[in-house]
Amino acid sequence: MSQARSRVELMHGVNLDMLGRRDPVHYGTLTLSELERQVAGFARELELELHCFQTNSEAEFVEHLHRLPGLADGVLLNPGAWTHYSWAIHDALEIAAIPAVEVHLSNVGAREKWRRVSVIADLCLATVSGQGVEGYREALVRLSKELDV
Ligand code: DQA
Repeated sequence: MSQARSRVELMHGVNLDMLGRRDPVHYGTLTLSELERQVAGFARELELELHCFQTNSEAEFVEHLHRLPGLADGVLLNPGAWTHYSWAIHDALEIAAIPAVEVHLSNVGAREKWRRVSVIADLCLATVSGQGVEGYREALVRLSKELDV
């Protein structure tokens, strides 16, 4: 008997708890909890079970990735600025070894040069950026295809 693999962890990193106070040109006006509510709605439509996590501590982010196997079948992650330089998060994601999609609210490819680098992209099925909250829907669709939901 096949078991549904439908548990998705949504992980936000550093400064994303400040949504609503950050530059609306790049990040829109939603707060993190409003964004999480919308993404939970997208997940329900796709019959995925969503759990949300955010921290400003890189160590907690890494430790949460360590806990993911057994808790989640896939992960959607927006590590914020850590995306661009945290090899610790790269390695923890590799250890988690579950399907992952990277998502960014802003178009990181069209901003400062340092934002064009992602140290996690090689471990992710896809990267979605520059589509605001709608990008999270696209990322969930990509993940649900991988999980066969
Ligand atoms: C971000 C882009 C990062 O460059 C930035 O440091 C963030 C948010 C995004 O969602 O667009 O904090 O990940």
